[in-house]
Amino acid sequence: MDEQARPVSKAENAAYSGFVEELPGEFRVSTSAYRGEKVFQDEIERIFHRTWIYLCHESEIRKPGDYKSTLLGLQPVIVSRDQSGNVTAVLNACTHRGATLCRDEHGSGRTLVCPYHGWSFRPSGELVGIPGAERYAPEFNKADKNLVKVPRVASYGGLVFGSFNPDVESLEAFLGPAKLHIDHWVKRRADGEYRLATAHKYAFSGNWKFQSENVYDGYHPGFVHRSAFHTIKKFSGSFENRFYGAIRPGGFTRGYPQGHGTLEAGAPLESGGVDPDAKKNYEDRLIALHGEQEAKEILNNCQFLIFPNLAIFDFNVRVIQPISHDRTEVYSYPVLIDGADESINSNRMLDAQTRVGSAGILSADDIDIFAGNQSALQALGSQWVTLSRGIGLETELEAGGRAGEYSDETPQRAFWRKWKQEMASESNAKGDSK
Ligand code: FES
Ligand code: FE
Repeated sequence: MDEQARPVSKAENAAYSGFVEELPGEFRVSTSAYRGEKVFQDEIERIFHRTWIYLCHESEIRKPGDYKSTLLGLQPVIVSRDQSGNVTAVLNACTHRGATLCRDEHGSGRTLVCPYHGWSFRPSGELVGIPGAERYAPEFNKADKNLVKVPRVASYGGLVFGSFNPDVESLEAFLGPAKLHIDHWVKRRADGEYRLATAHKYAFSGNWKFQSENVYDGYHPGFVHRSAFHTIKKFSGSFENRFYGAIRPGGFTRGYPQGHGTLEAGAPLESGGVDPDAKKNYEDRLIALHGEQEAKEILNNCQFLIFPNLAIFDFNVRVIQPISHDRTEVYSYPVLIDGADESINSNRMLDAQTRVGSAGILSADDIDIFAGNQSALQALGSQWVTLSRGIGLETELEAGGRAGEYSDETPQRAFWRKWKQEMASESNAKGDSK
C-alpha cells in the first residue's frame, strides 16, 4: 500500500502529536481525532494499512480450500488455506478488469471464478484459467495476473492477522504482553476446539474509536446500562449474576505500551444455564491441564482489545470495522467449543443473544451513546475529551504498561498513546511536501 499512500508532511505529523496531550493530572484528546474524513483516511493509511489487523479465526478456514472474504482496513481481501495448509491473503479484486471476485463471505473450493468474464483463480491467488485464451497474444504476461498478495500474514492462538506493511514487526512483538490474555482465552477451550459461529452484525453512526474505547470501559456500565440491569433483576436465576455495577470491587484494568488493554473482574463471569455436572467436569479438566492457579486465572472474566479494532470477550470475538469517520460496523462472533458439553455451548450462545450481540441488552445501549457522542462532538467549542481517571493511582506492570482500578481510564490512555505514536510517526513523513 505504500506506493498509494498520500505524501505526508512533517508539519502534519506534528499536528497529530498535538491531538493527544498529557498534562499534570490530565490526559486529553482533541475532539478532531473523532471527526472528519482527513483524519479518518490518515488512520487507514498509518494504522490500518501499516500495523497488524485481525482477519479471521482459523476455524473459519479449517480445511484446505476454505476461504473467507473480509476487509483489511478498507481493502477487500480473501483469506484462505491452501492445499499445503498455509494461510494466505490476497486482494479481492480481479486482475482482468477489477471485478469483486468473491462475493460470498465464506466458501470452499479449488478455484474462484470471476463473475464478470470467468477468469479463474486459486483462493490463494494464482490465475489458473482464462476463457478464450487463444485471443491473447503470445507475449501477454499471465504470470503477473495473479491476485495481489497481502505481504504479511501470521496467526497467534488461532487468530489470523494480516498487514500491508512488508516491514511490520513480528506479530508476537506487536502483541507483546497481550499474548498472556490470548493464551488464557485459548486455554478456556480445555480439550475442545474453538469454532466461531455466524456473526451478529450491527452498525452505528459514529466513529470506530468510540467502540474500541468502550471495550474496557468499567466506568460506564452502572450508568449506561442501569435500565438494563433493572430489567435483569426482574428475571430470576440464570441471568442475574452476569451483570454488575460501575465500580466493581476487585476488578482492574491494564494498558500496555503496544496499545492493547484489558478490563478484568478478578472473578469468573458467572453464568447460569450450564449443567452443574458439566461445569464441574469442565473446571476439573482445566485444573488437570493447567493447575489450580492458572485454571483460576483462565476462568476469570477478562475482556481485552488488541489495538486498534479487535475485541476478545470471554465468549465472543468482536471486530470493529471502520467504514467512514462517522460510520462503523461491528461483527460479533459467538465462540463455541467443539467437543464441549452442549449446555456450555448453549450458554455461550445465550451470552451472545442476551448481552453482547446485536439484540443484546448491552450493545443497544452502547451504540446509542456512540451515535450521541458523534453528534455532540460537532458542537463548536468542544475541543477536548478527558481520559484522566486513575492518573497517579496506577501501578507499573512488570511486563510494561500500567494497571488501574476497574473504572480507571488506564487502557484508553494506552490506546491513545499508541494512536499518537502511529499517526505522528516520523516514518510516515515523506518530507515537507506541503
Ligand atoms: Fe474478472 Fe473480467 S473482471 S474476468
Ligand atoms: Fe457497555
